[in-house]
Amino acid sequence: MSPFDLTDTVSLVTGATGGIGRATCKALADAGSRVIASDLAVRADVEGAVEYRNLDVTDEAAWSNLITHITSQYGRLDNLVNNAGISVTNSIAATSLEEWRKCQAINVEGLFLGTRTAAEILAKSGADRRGGSSIVNLSSVGGLKGAAYMAAYCTSKGAVRLFTKSAAAEYAMLQKPIRVNSVHPGGIDTGMMDEIYARYVEESLFPDEETARTIVSAGHAMGRMGEPEEISAGIVYLCSPGASFVTGSELVIDGGMTAR
Ligand SMILES: NC(=O)c1ccc[n+]([C@@H]2O[C@H](COP(=O)([O-])OP(=O)(O)OC[C@H]3O[C@@H](n4cnc5c(N)ncnc54)[C@H](O)[C@@H]3O)[C@@H](O)[C@H]2O)c1
Repeated sequence: MSPFDLTDTVSLVTGATGGIGRATCKALADAGSRVIASDLAVRADVEGAVEYRNLDVTDEAAWSNLITHITSQYGRLDNLVNNAGISVTNSIAATSLEEWRKCQAINVEGLFLGTRTAAEILAKSGADRRGGSSIVNLSSVGGLKGAAYMAAYCTSKGAVRLFTKSAAAEYAMLQKPIRVNSVHPGGIDTGMMDEIYARYVEESLFPDEETARTIVSAGHAMGRMGEPEEISAGIVYLCSPGASFVTGSELVIDGGMTAR
């Protein structure tokens, strides 16, 4: 059997109706996993998912309800992909406290709540599976280096990186079979990047969105933006038995953006 096979596993993906979320649900399903997709919308069709559930990742009670549902419906949870996130493109001077807190609440607190709530069923499920269970947290190149007009976002993604390493160290120390890793995409063609280009133009940082896109693309050594499927492939790897010795790591998928 391929070391990347996910047959007999159950996976939960947050932010699953966005660009990377949809690609992740499809890729996990293609690898054999039963995927529960979740996002803010009450209803949605997500290719590959066996079920869609509404989940605001900042809602503690909603996390508890969803994990209870998965436990009773499927009896296990092997992979949690904490993918939900928002960007904030604003100068520090113009960032309101409300905007700052919303970014940290969704990007950081959401992932803390998910990890804490799912840890018990993940540990139980991981005990009978080669490589154990897996949590994959979406950070960013913005979690490795700063960027102008991105202070709130980069702060949140830096926190994702170190929450990941702390959780990895803690579960390993407690001998819980849960691996925890972060993924650091460069610029990926999704709705989030479209919003960022629009904000750059609003703030007069670039004359138009096409120029913004050209300059952001050139920031990658490979000279182009990434596709959501180039991120989901890395997520499947981290969820798979092939990554059985990988925990606390940061998988950078950025077309060489941080290589130079
Ligand atoms: N696109 C990029 O260039 C890029 C780069 C680095 C990191 N990322 C990260 O990848 C992840 C996915 O981003 P994407 O590009 O697919 O963006 P996207 O905007 O297409 O999708 C994000 C999804 O998160 C959902 N979401 C927002 N707030 C939520 C909440 N409170 N609860 C549940 N869901 C919520 C949205 O509804 C949306 O479907 C994010 O964490 C993002 O920060 C993206």
